[in-house]
Amino acid sequence: MSEYNCVKYRCPSNIALVKYWGKKSGGVQLPANPSISWTLTDLHATTTVTRAKLDDTHASSVSLEFFLAGEPKPSFEPKIRQFLERIAPMMPQVKEFHWRIESENNFPHGTGIASSAAGFGALALCFADFQRADLAGTQTWSEEEFLQTASIYARLGSGSACRSVYGQPGIWGETKAWSKATDEFAVPFTAEVHPSLNNWADAVLIVDDGEKSVSSTQGHDLLKDHPYATSRYQQAQINLERLLEIMKEGDLEGFISLVESEALQLHAMMMSSEPYYLLIRPNTVAIIEKIWLKRKETQWPMAFTLDAGANVHLLYDKSYSQSVMNFIETELLPYCKNSLYLCSNIGGSPQKN
Ligand code: PMV
Repeated sequence: MSEYNCVKYRCPSNIALVKYWGKKSGGVQLPANPSISWTLTDLHATTTVTRAKLDDTHASSVSLEFFLAGEPKPSFEPKIRQFLERIAPMMPQVKEFHWRIESENNFPHGTGIASSAAGFGALALCFADFQRADLAGTQTWSEEEFLQTASIYARLGSGSACRSVYGQPGIWGETKAWSKATDEFAVPFTAEVHPSLNNWADAVLIVDDGEKSVSSTQGHDLLKDHPYATSRYQQAQINLERLLEIMKEGDLEGFISLVESEALQLHAMMMSSEPYYLLIRPNTVAIIEKIWLKRKETQWPMAFTLDAGANVHLLYDKSYSQSVMNFIETELLPYCKNSLYLCSNIGGSPQKN
């Protein structure tokens, strides 16, 4: 066992272009369909994990404490405990140490932005890093093996987090469009992306910063008996295959319509679940309509997408930054809660600090 007892990683959040919504039955957090995302470099979590050897090396449960932005947060511990219990069969050291986990996000708390992808991404990288250090001497992991391990661990914390460990777009879930893709972990989309889709950014327009009425975990569960689940999974397969082609060819019109359709399908699945529910708000719709109108007038390369919430992600080509920022400031801010929006570049790998 190495003397290596503290590790710190910064990991970006991500936004899916083709959405993961629904889990396979059997296995833990295996996706019912493939998804792909862009990492949001400037919206990230930084996590420090410090470990101390336990006297009882055969402890039956995991020992941890969790701090968010410097404050103890016992309410987060059950979710992290479950994550550690899940990785313990692959990493026996989990039960041999007490874990002090300190995390912080660089975006304001309570913006409704899903912090779990960045948070579990950073946490998974820390644990994979400990394991790599402990194995050194007996086994050497390539960078690819390290990232795959981190991606498996991240998946066991929060499915979408497994795509955050790569700077390149992350593909997660079996698809014939990408032979390396698997349900167990995400892999990077290493093909050359067309220049017209290689310089984009995201402005997250904060519409609602409250707690969601239905969590993602509950939302995934509602797909089990959903009347449209099978066709949604087939559609996601088709959309992923098509999107990979679009990214190589640089078909902007195809990109915009596919990404927006994916966002609306995700919410259509929520609206047609049993019980049905609605996470978008009137201002979500107002912003979407403003974006459609502006695009019709100007032809700017921009598209909206949504995650499981009311906030709108406005994806745009950075060559149009000034015009898009001006559009946001003058026409979209009135629909944002406290006039708040957050900007991020796309791409960029996690960093070890
Ligand atoms: O990772 P989870 O279980 O919180 O699922 C989130 C799924 C979406 O954000 C709605 C879509 C996606 O692929 O990221």
